[in-house]
Order: sequence, then structure tokens, then C-alpha cells
Amino acid sequence: MDKQLLHDSLALVDLPDSGLTVRFYEILFDRYPTVRAMFGRDTRVQAEMLRGAIVSVVDHVDDADWLRTTLHALGRRHARFGVTRPMYTAVAECMIATMSEIGGDAWTPAMTSAWDRALGAIATIMLDGYPDESAIPARARRRSAGAA
Ligand code: HEM
Repeated sequence: MDKQLLHDSLALVDLPDSGLTVRFYEILFDRYPTVRAMFGRDTRVQAEMLRGAIVSVVDHVDDADWLRTTLHALGRRHARFGVTRPMYTAVAECMIATMSEIGGDAWTPAMTSAWDRALGAIATIMLDGYPDESAIPARARRRSAGAA
């Protein structure tokens, strides 16, 4: 993963008042309304947790052990939440759309590629942490059709 580009592009869109992750959830729920029901807590609280996770991953991009340990554990929790593989694609698409919207003219195609690769790698490691497909509740497997 391209640490410098990820870091610089995140700094561009993650200004204190940019509302990056709050706007992300608006876009996600607009494009994929079926996932809305999965989120119990206040979107702002959820947004802050997601933001924290992304900042930590960018900080540890060169630390394969940290990434594996942390993201496997995060993946295991997401298996319990009922998060399926296609949902990671939906989340990456909406995260990049949000960053590009906030970054405006300063957001470049190279930034899009760097985040596409990074979010793909994060999803792969999180999914590696899943116990196995059968551990995902059937209810959520059906719902994932809406997030494909
Ligand atoms: C880039 C990949 C992702 C990261 C870094 C991430 C990060 C997080 C974090 C830090 C939490 C807080 C709870 C915890 O630590 O266990 C969380 C909760 C959650 N995430 Fe994710 N997540 C990702 C992908 C997804 C996807 C693809 C979905 C499904 C659309 C999803 C749905 C949820 C749900 C339903 C919760 C629990 C919300 C609640 O308790 O109300 N996440 N996520």
C-alpha cells in the first residue's frame, strides 16, 4: 500500500469539519439502503469509530503483523454483525466517492487507485479473519444481495 499517498490524501479530505465519515454513511445508505438496518448505534458514533479504524490502518500500513492481528479480529466481529463480502465492495465504492466529493479538484485518479487497493487489501484481511461462510447469519447472506 502507498503509505505516503494514503496519508496525504486522507489529510486532504479528513479535515476536522469535513464530516468525512458522516457523509460516507449518507452516501452508503442512499446507494445501499438495505444495509441501514444493520447499524444500531448513532451514525455519528459509528462514523467516529470507522474514522479511527481507517486512521490506524494508514498509520500501520507497513506493519504486516499489526494489520493481520487487528484486521482479523475486526473481521471476526464483522462476521458476527452479518457483514458479507459484497458489502465490502459497496463500502469501498462509497468511501472513495465520499473522498472524491470532499477533495473536489484536488482529488486525483492516483488517490482513487491507492484507496481502491488499500480498501481491497483491508477487506481481504478482514475476510481472512472470518470463521467460515456458514458463521454468517442466513438473514445477512440474503441481505447482501442488495449490496452487490
Ligand atoms: C474498511 C472496512 C471496515 C472497517 C475498517 C470497519 C470498522 C468498524 C469499526 C471500528 C467498528 C466498531 C466496532 C468494532 O470495532 O467491532 C465497526 C462496526 C460495524 N461495522 Fe464496520 N468496518 C468496515 C467494513 C464494514 C462493512 C463493509 C460493513 C457492512 C456494510 C460494516 C458494518 C458494520 C456494522 C453493522 C458495525 C456494528 C454497528 C453497530 O454496532 O451498530 N463494516 N466497523
